[in-house]
Formats: sequence, structure tokens, C-alpha cells
Amino acid sequence: MNNHDLTLETTTLWDFPTQNYGSIPHGDNKYPGVTPAFIIWNLLQRYTVENDLVVDPMCGSGTTIDVCKEENRRVLGFDIVPYREDIIPADARKLPLVNSIVDFIFIDSPYSNNIHYNDHPDNIGHISCESPRFYKELEKVAQELHRILKKGKYLAWIIADQAKKEKFTPVGYKLYSILEKYFTPVDIICVTRHNQKSNTPIWHHRAKKYNFYLRGFKYLFIMKKP
Ligand SMILES: C[S@@+](CC[C@H](N)C(=O)[O-])C[C@H]1O[C@@H](n2cnc3c(N)ncnc32)[C@H](O)[C@@H]1O
Repeated sequence: MNNHDLTLETTTLWDFPTQNYGSIPHGDNKYPGVTPAFIIWNLLQRYTVENDLVVDPMCGSGTTIDVCKEENRRVLGFDIVPYREDIIPADARKLPLVNSIVDFIFIDSPYSNNIHYNDHPDNIGHISCESPRFYKELEKVAQELHRILKKGKYLAWIIADQAKKEKFTPVGYKLYSILEKYFTPVDIICVTRHNQKSNTPIWHHRAKKYNFYLRGFKYLFIMKKP
């Protein structure tokens, strides 16, 4: 597929069956929790222009870096444990950047301690979303992102809820109420989840038998720095 064939999404429901597009990888689709590259492509078309500076403070396998380079955006990707050489080691709560220099931020953060990314003690993915501490740490990230973003520019943040052992935690709503303290809401996109470990007949059977729902979507919050 040629990038010119990619479609700009026009509704708030995004469904990308594959992580990648085209023949060149964007990020590593074997990385736990890797972001579908189409999401970043769509956001770049709407909220950035060529040569803008894009930051991903938790960039994992580097999907944002690869999409940005192909779309001629300048990009800095940080992670607590860099997966590749072009990723800068940093804590998303304390980024090595001066105030108000970034044109667009994309972040796909941990949304609980459900995925093992690495053993680094400052990995926020070690904290359960059932603990108030999880939201305190995400608020520090939100404050830091607000500090580095230019006024009038946009931030996009992916997160999902958790339902575990009969306890539902509305992680998305909790994060949204934090983001609203610092940013103006622009929209909320619902991104269909694919390649779920729980997308098996036994889990669908359990969901019916024990009367709970399997997670079908993630939130993509789009916010603006006023
Ligand atoms: C959902 S993954 C990101 C996936 C990425 N967008 C991709 O496409 O590969 C979340 C990432 O957050 C990182 N992370 C967790 N705590 C962090 C922190 N305090 N500072 C920076 N990165 C952190 C993890 O190491 C992990 O790579």
C-alpha cells in the first residue's frame, strides 16, 4: 500500500485490523502493547504539518518515530527502557526538554500492571490501575506534557479500562478527569482492539457464563493546550 492510499478517518470509531501499513515496519508488532501505526498517521495528518516537532514520551518499539520520519516530521521518542538506539532513555515525568517547544504529543501509556514491558523500577506499568498511585503518576506525566507542549497545540493519549476478577476500573474516565485540569477537550475516539489474548472461545464462554464483558476498545483522547 502506498501512503497516499491511506484514509483519513472521519468518524470517532477507528478500526485497524493490522498494526502496520505498507511494506516497511512502523515499530515492532511483536512489542507488547504496540500501537497501530495508522492511529499515529491519522493524527499527524490532522494536527501537524511537515517539520513540526512531535514527541512520544513512552514510545516503546518506536512506532511514532517511524511514522513521523516517513511523514517528514521531526520526532523525539523517549522511553524508560529504550528498545532501539534512536529512542532516548528518559522518564516521561521528567523529560530533557525546555518549556513549550513541542508541536504535537502522542502517548500510548500503560493502563495498569497487565503487561510486562520491562523491570525498570520507574516503569509506571508496574502499578495497578486499582491503586490511587497510578493516577498520581499519570498526572505527573500530564503536567510534564503540558509543560513541553506549545500553546494551542495538541496531545493524543491512548488508554483503556480494566475488568479483572469481577472488578471494573474506569481507567479512561479517571485519566480524562486529570487531563481536563490541564487541557481543553477536542474529541474522544474509540479504537477497536484486536489481537487480544482474551479473544478466544473459552473467554467468550466465560464472559457469558459469569456475566462480564471482554474489552472491545481503547480510548484515544485528543486534547489541546489552551
Ligand atoms: C503501550 S507501550 C508503548 C507502545 C508504543 N507506542 C509502540 O508502538 O511500541 C508503553 C510504554 O511505556 C513505557 N513506560 C512506562 N513507564 C514509563 C515512564 N515512567 N517513562 C517513560 N516510559 C515509560 C514502557 O516501557 C512501554 O514501552
